[in-house]
Amino acid sequence: MNLKDEFIKYFVSKGHVEIPSAPLIPENDPTVLFNTAGMQPLIPYLLGEAHPKGKRLCDAQKCVRLTDLEDIGDKTHHTFFEMLGNWSLGDYFKKESIGYSFEFLTKVLNIPIERLAVTVFAGNQDIPRDDVSASIWHELGIPKERIAYLGVEDNFWIAGESGPCGGDTEIFYFRSNDEIPKHFDPKDDRWVEIWNNVFMEFYKDESGKIMELKQKNVDTGMGLERVVAVLEGVEDNYASSIWKEIIASLEQISNKSYQDNVTSMRIIADHIRTSVFISADPAGIKPSNTDQGYILRRLIRRAIRHAKKLGIDTNTNWMEPIALEVIKKYENYYKEIKENKEVVLEVLKNESIKFNRTLEKGLREFDKLLNHLEGNIIDKDNAFKLYDTYGFPIELTVEMAREHNLKVDTEGFKEKFASHQELSRTASKGKFKGGLMGHSEIETKYHTATHLLNAALKVVIGADVHQKGSNINEERMRFDFSCDHKLTDEEKKKVEDLVNEWIKEDWPVSMSTMSKEEAIKSGAEAMFIEKYADIVNVYTIGNVSKEICGGPHVEHTSVLGHFKITKEEASSAGVRRIKAILE
Ligand code: ALA
Repeated sequence: MNLKDEFIKYFVSKGHVEIPSAPLIPENDPTVLFNTAGMQPLIPYLLGEAHPKGKRLCDAQKCVRLTDLEDIGDKTHHTFFEMLGNWSLGDYFKKESIGYSFEFLTKVLNIPIERLAVTVFAGNQDIPRDDVSASIWHELGIPKERIAYLGVEDNFWIAGESGPCGGDTEIFYFRSNDEIPKHFDPKDDRWVEIWNNVFMEFYKDESGKIMELKQKNVDTGMGLERVVAVLEGVEDNYASSIWKEIIASLEQISNKSYQDNVTSMRIIADHIRTSVFISADPAGIKPSNTDQGYILRRLIRRAIRHAKKLGIDTNTNWMEPIALEVIKKYENYYKEIKENKEVVLEVLKNESIKFNRTLEKGLREFDKLLNHLEGNIIDKDNAFKLYDTYGFPIELTVEMAREHNLKVDTEGFKEKFASHQELSRTASKGKFKGGLMGHSEIETKYHTATHLLNAALKVVIGADVHQKGSNINEERMRFDFSCDHKLTDEEKKKVEDLVNEWIKEDWPVSMSTMSKEEAIKSGAEAMFIEKYADIVNVYTIGNVSKEICGGPHVEHTSVLGHFKITKEEASSAGVRRIKAILE
């Protein structure tokens, strides 16, 4: 039985349209690095925009959650995972949603009812207790003692701090061979959560205020890795069929057994799989020192360090056979994995060659450091030397230190790093909060250039041109906008010239914070207004452009240099895409 296929088949049979997974790297949201849930790419539709495929959707969405990075190595955590989900966008609600989940679990997966239990939302000052869901479950045959009411901490779901949200009902499976207790205790870890049905009927703004959404939605999420392990009766996710070939290949390369080397093998298997998915994503991420590129670098370098621990000769192309197993496993589901196979293998090989040049020496430096260390803290200068000279991501140094019961002065490191990079204060501060390096100077420039391009298109093509997406990396910017025709050479030239004129005019860039209503009234351009919180930042570039945006931006346009369009092509129906560079 293939859970992913069965899930999709079932929901398609219930009138859902299967949609492809959105890219792992969000196309229109620079504030998050990766998609972390199936609902994330669907936010505009949960808020009321009509989805071209209708009101009932299902998919397997590629997700990366970095909160779990430190936990990788245990039985249950992964950085990358697939989330199976079905959605009602203002169509069916609690009764059908719970009915479908129940039928799928008991009739398709043949899970006995005795092994199931559920939690429902106990309510709070804003929202009443969810007796409706509880009685639907009860009518379906879940006894009252297997239905637990839990509060906001457990049974209210939101991605991050603000956005669409709602109470949820979570489904648990009793995975032990012990006798099943009559009363369900959600804290008893023999009960494993397998599915979460969120009844998304609210919107929470940044001040914490809860408002009703235009429509009542259902958003469900089932973590594929966990549920496959549960169904196959293994407690270690990495012992399930999902990982079988990947682990086997690793055992062969290292000539060691999984059972004796679980931690390093799980880290390597997980990190290579995630690196394959990140580097195959259409955003074209390459290892670097910022944003997604930095995560990719960290994952590959950490995998290499653990390979060394296993005694693998890391000067060989040892990652390739493992990556090929990953590719084989997923290429029929995700076309980018097949299409970008060579790119992925290149990324792994190149980063590996780069790190191997300094790894040996860096490890020796680390040992030397241990021998001369007074106290139990690696100071900022040594941490920075390991980073700067030997390419050890700070998190890798922290992990190695931890293995010797040592700490690292990471705060000091960050300060040193920030002053070294001469990053603008806001950029480095903002990003370190998320545990990341800041936006690079060039990416900041591209952000500002995006606003100029948007404004220039409105002048040259027409006021009804609107931004549909953007993506920035160190090499180029990409900008999607509504437009019904291919730009003529003349139009492209006019747009380029106008942007360059504005750059030369050296307009100041300023930021002010205001309410969303005020921003709109002031004529600020917004890509998707309902998605923003009530209080927004508005960036103004002289009298050229005014946009709601998260930043960061340069202070004056003259630093952007020369703007050049490198490509203009169709993106989708009625949407054109421009790629451009700053020289
Ligand atoms: N969005 C919900 C989750 O991620 C389904 O658990």
